[in-house]
Amino acid sequence: MSISTVEDLSFYSNVEPNQQRFTEVVKTFQTNFPGDDITFFARSPGRVNLIGDHIDYNFFPVLPMAIANDVIAAVNVNSTNEIIITNTDAKDFPKEVITLSNSQIDQEHHSWANYFKCALIVAKQYLEERGVTSLKGMKLTFNGNVPTGGGLSSSAAFCVASTLAIIRANGITDLTKQDLTRITVVSEHYVGVNTGGMDQCASVCGEPDKLLLIEFKPKLTAKPFKLPIQDLTFVITNSLQVSNKHETAPIHYNLRVVEMGIAADLLVKKLGLEQVPNDSNIGTASLRGVMDAKFGHSWDGNDATVGIEQLTEMINVVEEKLTNQKGYSIEECCRELDITAKEFDQRYLSQFPVKFDTLKLYQRAKHVYKESLRVLKTLKLISTATDKESFLIKFGRLMNESQVDLDELNESSNKKLNELCSVALANGSYGSRVTGAGWGGSIVHLTTVDKVDALIEGLINNYYKVEFPNITPAELDDAIINSKPSMGSCIITTDFLKR
Ligand code: GLA
Repeated sequence: MSISTVEDLSFYSNVEPNQQRFTEVVKTFQTNFPGDDITFFARSPGRVNLIGDHIDYNFFPVLPMAIANDVIAAVNVNSTNEIIITNTDAKDFPKEVITLSNSQIDQEHHSWANYFKCALIVAKQYLEERGVTSLKGMKLTFNGNVPTGGGLSSSAAFCVASTLAIIRANGITDLTKQDLTRITVVSEHYVGVNTGGMDQCASVCGEPDKLLLIEFKPKLTAKPFKLPIQDLTFVITNSLQVSNKHETAPIHYNLRVVEMGIAADLLVKKLGLEQVPNDSNIGTASLRGVMDAKFGHSWDGNDATVGIEQLTEMINVVEEKLTNQKGYSIEECCRELDITAKEFDQRYLSQFPVKFDTLKLYQRAKHVYKESLRVLKTLKLISTATDKESFLIKFGRLMNESQVDLDELNESSNKKLNELCSVALANGSYGSRVTGAGWGGSIVHLTTVDKVDALIEGLINNYYKVEFPNITPAELDDAIINSKPSMGSCIITTDFLKR
């Protein structure tokens, strides 16, 4: 299915504030580039993941939705040999000029232009596939209201919107959702963050009023579906603890990828499995690959009952085989894997730098199988739901269990995030959990429409005003997002400007 091109802003569930954002983008564009025309707008949203974190890069299904907050860009296409990017927030995102012939990323100099270059790299590769080798110049003005470092995929929204803009600017009008997802899933790897594919896929494939079941095997697909129960809603609250995936990658995100890769290789060895593909992002086995090999590839991802049985067994396998709960040293890993320290370094530590005292293989692998099990239990619950209250209680319980494991096994939560969850549960949330990478960012809460006001009031009084006594009403407004599932990436023509 192709990326939509729309002629106005009626796809937003809340048109008025977005109309104002577009007016601001147009004004800033005209100030930055006097006399130049806007050729089109490109847009891509953030996402919230309802359940299933730190499992996408192990190829287990996840359940996110695209949110209304998004990145928009006014785009001018021209015949120069450079791309100029500007932002309505010029203070945090100052003007940058990128020459078309040089998309090299300067890892030492952290700038938003690096993320644009990620988009340029993957767009260029795609355009070459389509026979386009000489790129157009561009002038862009961006505006984003996905909070930066808020755990709602601001970077994926930006990379996807930028990639879409570049491809459209170069004359491709039939780009499919599959292709935009396929090429952008690796975009952030170029700035050194070894992400999975959930964020980009949710940003591209979001649909109004629908959640997404994203699967990674046998191939990356997003299945949009509606919840069978009315009146329930997800409230998202930004903890206002900034989660910077990029800067903390060596001790947080990328380290999880490495720990899970080593855990997978160790399970392959200890279970004596053969022909397990080295399909993880760092070229090791994946925890999904281990499960598939152990059960002779008998789960195609569709039958939740089979998946539940196999994942339950995998949790026992972790208990039996990864017995060092204190954490593995490099020496111990080498011994168990029967490799030298040099081989260890090459296989696990050479692609993305990581720092650690011990490798928590037991905890991470257990998290992945338990969290994946909860996603399947949620799917089963959704497919059999009849009674609203019982659905809310059971789904909420799965979300709360997820939060405990994110905190204790994956160690991607922290005291303040846990506190925010507890406050929410005491004020009308059925389930509250950190969403996305964690180590800060946002919490997603499951509740019903009639309980939203009390939940928000409880959070304001018992979290925000306690943690941030000087918080302003505008900051509070930005921190609390009550978003319906929204449409994914699209191009917007300039027709509506003329009306
Ligand atoms: C980040 C990554 C995703 C995913 C989540 C955790 O958002 O970009 O690929 O791994 O963390 O679920």
